[in-house]
Amino acid sequence: MMLQINSLSQYQDEYRRSIEHPEQFWAEQAEHFEWHRKWHTVLKNDFITPDVRWFEGGRLNITENCLDRHIADKGDKPAIIWEPNDPTGPSISISYRQLLAQVNQCANALRSMGVSKGDRICIYMPMIPQAVVAMLACARVGAVHSIVFAGFSAKSLSDRITDTGCKWVICSDYNRRGAKDIAVKEVVDEALSLEPNLVEKVLVYKHTNKTTCWNPELDVCWQDIVPLMPEKCAPEIMDSEDMLFILYTSGSTGKPKGAVHTIGGYMVFTCFTFINTFQYKNDDIYWCTADIGWITGHSYGVYGPLLAGATTLMFEGVPNYPDAGRFWQIIDKYRVTQFYTAPTAIRSLMASAWDEPDKYKLDSLKVIGSVGEPINEEAWHWYDEKVGRGKVPIVDTWWQTENGGIMITPLPGITDTKPCYASYPLPGVQPVIVNQDGKILEGNDVEGLLCIRFPWPSVVRTTYGDHERCRTTYFAPFPGFYFTGDAARRDSEGRYRIMGRVDDVINVSGHRLGTAEVEDAINSHPEIVESAVVGFPHPIKGQGIYAYVTALHDVEDKEKLIREVLQVVTEQIGAIAKPDKIQFAPQLPKTRSGKIMRRILRKIAEGAPEQIGDTSTLINPECVQDLIDGCEL
Ligand code: WT7
Repeated sequence: MMLQINSLSQYQDEYRRSIEHPEQFWAEQAEHFEWHRKWHTVLKNDFITPDVRWFEGGRLNITENCLDRHIADKGDKPAIIWEPNDPTGPSISISYRQLLAQVNQCANALRSMGVSKGDRICIYMPMIPQAVVAMLACARVGAVHSIVFAGFSAKSLSDRITDTGCKWVICSDYNRRGAKDIAVKEVVDEALSLEPNLVEKVLVYKHTNKTTCWNPELDVCWQDIVPLMPEKCAPEIMDSEDMLFILYTSGSTGKPKGAVHTIGGYMVFTCFTFINTFQYKNDDIYWCTADIGWITGHSYGVYGPLLAGATTLMFEGVPNYPDAGRFWQIIDKYRVTQFYTAPTAIRSLMASAWDEPDKYKLDSLKVIGSVGEPINEEAWHWYDEKVGRGKVPIVDTWWQTENGGIMITPLPGITDTKPCYASYPLPGVQPVIVNQDGKILEGNDVEGLLCIRFPWPSVVRTTYGDHERCRTTYFAPFPGFYFTGDAARRDSEGRYRIMGRVDDVINVSGHRLGTAEVEDAINSHPEIVESAVVGFPHPIKGQGIYAYVTALHDVEDKEKLIREVLQVVTEQIGAIAKPDKIQFAPQLPKTRSGKIMRRILRKIAEGAPEQIGDTSTLINPECVQDLIDGCEL
């Protein structure tokens, strides 16, 4: 196994070494994998253009490292344990040997459908093993997967299919979530009708025995072809810097961008960070609750654990079905050793069933993790006491879609933990805090903007089809650094605390949304002239969505228009983007140049109008009081 840090002094030594000799450090980690040809250059370090390349010249296939490599000594070990939505339904255990056979069959099916190296394939699937099989099958044949979270709307799906030029879609017929079955194949059909002629084939896994709409020209039934394929499939040998996947994520402007991750660096970094952050040991049963539609599901549901030869648990359902003890019941059922979830889930279970964990043993847990948004102090303590029973370290892991893997986290049992603190950078990660002018704030007890000053192996390489956007978003703000978009403080002992986004991105239940995106969706309603969206503190979601909207005419039936606005947002983006509060505003506060003053709107939505401050630069300062009076809190 690759380097696993097991003491504080070793962390300090390895951290120092990874900073002083990053190329040597990462080359050593990369040696633990199987390469068809070794790299000639460890790192091309251009953090300006940017043009970062890791292990260039190296040739490999990541699925050989996830699967084939483990067969000799772990062939019969479960790779995936799947727990269905319905607690009375049968669970499934898939060994490494079986998973390899299934991936190969699916890969052969993809090749038979004409897929080859470099093609993009869209995956729109629920949390079932076939979703992992589909991902790895793409990687096996050198195709690039672009997974779209199955809660996104037909319009969002269509936008992503168009942006990546996917000619194949892999989906299910229905998704089971709690008491509901969701007809996702219908969403796919609708997406394809928005942009006809782009997609050549849709591979549909029939997950239920319900009937579904069928288009014989396009649709291929998974069960009709995949199981008939040979169980061996020669992997496509790829370059280290070939694309592995595209994953869309929201920014402060425009449409979501496709973050591009490449094979070699992503492989090394996700495996290294998995082994260390979770202190993974051979017989562990590891469970990450994230959906494969998000980066956490990619890196710590699938790639990290499989690269490490771990058993990864996959859960189809939701935290509160059939009741709020579902997570705790699953932990006891499989004797889960590492549990990784999001603060929003913790807060909602805490709010709905405070003492529920008391009914379970939870004594198998060794590490519990949090990811995706700041975990507030109360939730941290509840997680610590009720789930960890005061003896299991919490890893509050900070990272981003564009980072590929965990960047800042405590190491359980090795470094200390402190509520609200993601704590210390992992080896190879060089965070700096800068002020608005880009000056590095040295020393401790400082607060400012969080940047990373040196490439790590899985830094985003580009945004698909628009490299300039990648440069301007992440690399131009502070030349020579990667800019995270987050504010952070470093405490007196060097621990990092993430303070939240400094741009127009809001984090709703751990999901990133651009305010501009939500505004565009709202504005597509014919009755809306303009809108401004801001985040506000929300007890469960972390941040809620507050929308100020200006209607074209006097609003007679407010309730009806609100329903329609929610509907249009659900259609354009998905239910996750629905505003929690909508306030009708005849005018929005604007500067002389016509810019909406969001700072003011944010303060009103936060319930802190006394902090609004100077409004003299507005052309319409008189509207501010009306907005305060009409606030929907
Ligand atoms: C943004 C990234 C990759 C994780 C899933 C979300 C926020 C993430 C933490 C944390 C405070 C956090 C940041 C970051 N965030 N983890 N432990 N503490 N904030 O990935 O959708 O790319 O969002 O989530 O604001 O920039 P994402």
